[in-house]
Amino acid sequence: MNTADGANTTKTDKAAEKRRLLRVLAGERLWPPPVWMMRQAGRYLPEYRATRAQAGSFLDLCYAPELATEVTLQPIRRFGFDAAILFSDILVVPDALGQKVWFVEGEGPRLDPIDLAKPDLEPHRLLTRLEPVIETVSRIRAELPDETTLLGFCGAPWTLLTYMIAGRGTPDQMPARRAALTDPSGVDRLVDMLVDASIAYLAAQLRAGADAVQIFDTWAGVLDDAGFRRFVIEPTRRIVEGVRAQIPGARIIGFPKGAGGHLPAFVAETGVDAVGIDWQASLDFIRDNVQPLVPVQGNLDPLHMVTGGEMLDAAIDRILDRLGEGRLIFNLGHGITPDGSIENVARMVARVRGAGGR
Ligand code: CP3
Repeated sequence: MNTADGANTTKTDKAAEKRRLLRVLAGERLWPPPVWMMRQAGRYLPEYRATRAQAGSFLDLCYAPELATEVTLQPIRRFGFDAAILFSDILVVPDALGQKVWFVEGEGPRLDPIDLAKPDLEPHRLLTRLEPVIETVSRIRAELPDETTLLGFCGAPWTLLTYMIAGRGTPDQMPARRAALTDPSGVDRLVDMLVDASIAYLAAQLRAGADAVQIFDTWAGVLDDAGFRRFVIEPTRRIVEGVRAQIPGARIIGFPKGAGGHLPAFVAETGVDAVGIDWQASLDFIRDNVQPLVPVQGNLDPLHMVTGGEMLDAAIDRILDRLGEGRLIFNLGHGITPDGSIENVARMVARVRGAGGR
């Protein structure tokens, strides 16, 4: 940031005013709403597959600033989204903490499962190992159009530890849920480390030029009420507080997937500036109980990116109709899948941007 240089600060502020998504995060209602897509840089794009092949392994791509910048920009060039999201993965944090992480082609992530009693992690190494990712953030900002908001991100502690404990993705996150019941203080210690790591990592991204950051809690929905408070709300609240202690006014989006009826408490207690909504959510519930508190982001079923047609148009219109009176960032309810079609993505962007009325 250029706070020491008056002329530069003014220029930066002017550029930031053009970022419509950032204006919604600051509380404005804009029409048509800004639009971007989770996993917008990914395998449904031929240009992504080409760069990915050049990089070697998936993690190599995450740690190669030039190539990671290129794949971040690809969906912006093609669709002109209102936001770019740093290309990386939530699992670079366990990797940088010293847990072995690798990706098996066609299957997903693998990790050497952690021993909760003796975690053997190296939190002091975190930021050194994540330097290439931080460099990617500054490179992306330098190349993005002024009007495009740049989002950084991290995985929330609960979601990270579901992978760190199981050593892989699981259908029901059973190993982590068991650990939360059999060794809650062991899980708390891991959460503490991940809270500190997330604060340091997000603050570094914001300093490097991210306009806002999103905290992905993909598996928030599998916990009971007490678990949700202890392992989702409380760690997220501490991350928000810790990041803002370093970067006052930092803009933060929470995405506790599957949170359902917990959403109003999540928003009120964590202090996030906006919240991501998955596609299972009740739109009336969100409009009445969440949108009055903060802007909401979502929530088209990503399957519409595969199936398209009039059902896609109707689903878009329904979201615009139910949530359009309030503060909205249009997005999918989770990431686009590799079988999503470019034509359907273009159709979605055009329909949201062409939305009349209101
Ligand atoms: O949104 C974006 O475009 C930014 C990049 C991004 C990726 N992963 C790239 C990626 C982000 C924000 C993530 C987050 C992420 N990663 C989450 C939370 C959000 C979510 O989607 O639930 C999780 C749980 C992960 C862990 C992860 N990474 C899994 C389970 C997988 C394998 C599944 C799959 O799609 O193959 C990944 C790999 C991954 N992360 C890919 C991409 C583009 C595909 C890997 C490839 O190119 O071979």
